[in-house]
Amino acid sequence: MQLCFAMKANSNLAILRLFSNLGGAFDLVSGGELTRVLAAGGSTSRSVFAGVGKSVAEIKLALEAGVYGFHVESEPELARINHVAGQLGRKAPIAIRVNPDVDAKTHAKITTGKSDNKFGIPLKYAAAAYEAAAKYPNIEIKGVQMHIGSQLTSAAPFVEAVKKVIPFVEQLKKLYGITYFSVGGGIGIVYEDALASGDAAWWSSKPEGERPLTPESYGAALAPLLAPLGLKILLEPGRFLVGNAGVLLSRVEYLKRGSGKNFLVVDAAMNDLVRPAMYEAYHEVVPLVRDSARPAMQADIVGPICESGDCFAKDRTMQTLGEGELVAFMSAGAYGYTMASRYNTRPAPAEVLVSGSRFELVNARENFDAMLAGEKIPGFLKT
Ligand code: LLP
Repeated sequence: MQLCFAMKANSNLAILRLFSNLGGAFDLVSGGELTRVLAAGGSTSRSVFAGVGKSVAEIKLALEAGVYGFHVESEPELARINHVAGQLGRKAPIAIRVNPDVDAKTHAKITTGKSDNKFGIPLKYAAAAYEAAAKYPNIEIKGVQMHIGSQLTSAAPFVEAVKKVIPFVEQLKKLYGITYFSVGGGIGIVYEDALASGDAAWWSSKPEGERPLTPESYGAALAPLLAPLGLKILLEPGRFLVGNAGVLLSRVEYLKRGSGKNFLVVDAAMNDLVRPAMYEAYHEVVPLVRDSARPAMQADIVGPICESGDCFAKDRTMQTLGEGELVAFMSAGAYGYTMASRYNTRPAPAEVLVSGSRFELVNARENFDAMLAGEKIPGFLKT
């Protein structure tokens, strides 16, 4: 088994080093992410390079870094990788991403294993793609890959997809001697009750069948199917490893009493954590000082950005809060900072790594000078 952390979930150098120290490698999707792995001292020789739009420059970088495998998403990409590898006098290790056409039953924007998604090569065309790959002089067929979606809360779609792909995997092993099968990522996390779910008591309070997916139940469902293949299994979890390890801290600016509605205006916004605006995602919001003596209130939790979509939660019931108090947006460790933008010229937030009682700033808050540094007024506008 080889664990390749899907670093798109959280690519701070400190997190990469942490996983690297634990023996992990990475699932990376861009030249930028590859550069981060190198900067963190991570292993590129055990990391894989995924994504539907690999550029020539990125393919070069990955070949020079000696990645474990290119996860190929189309026939033209195969041709391009072969060409670039030839120019560098190398053989490129590849696995083709097959699209098993199963429904991961997750949010439409993060489902990837249906035939109408842009990902992978449909199972029915994959044999021909491997035949083509075998003919390219600078391609080394090394494995096969699948990934059906993200934030899956049941093992059933994984089982369905793996079962569907297994006969093909066996055929590839016979024909080309492949050595690995990457089953992708996608294990979901608990968003509602994120805080309580840190406790064993919470888990045991959940009846069987309502328990969220755990690595144990995922493993128990998949291992019996995968073990007989006799291949190295690659796993690419992202969210599961970091999602509930991070919070977004924010300060209340105002409690605004609207017409029949309260708005808790906080200093974080959709540019810092876009998931609620983009996927209607639920994030628990927890006051740092909890005071059960205070009355409850209902409010929309909103940021300062000038559009109504800048809303973290609608009609959330919570302890009454006021100006200056701190709240934590839970489950922000995955797809939080990595999806942040600078909309409204809001600088990227600082990042702090906490381990027990130790903590350290691992990314400075961006400043306005840095934000403007690359911009200039062109000569023809200067009067
Ligand atoms: N492997 C591949 C090929 C992927 O495309 C992804 C995620 C992963 C692994 C990791 O999936 P995970 O274990 O984190 O579910 N921004 C969205 C999630 C997008 C996921 C994209 N691909 C969100 O905030 O929910």
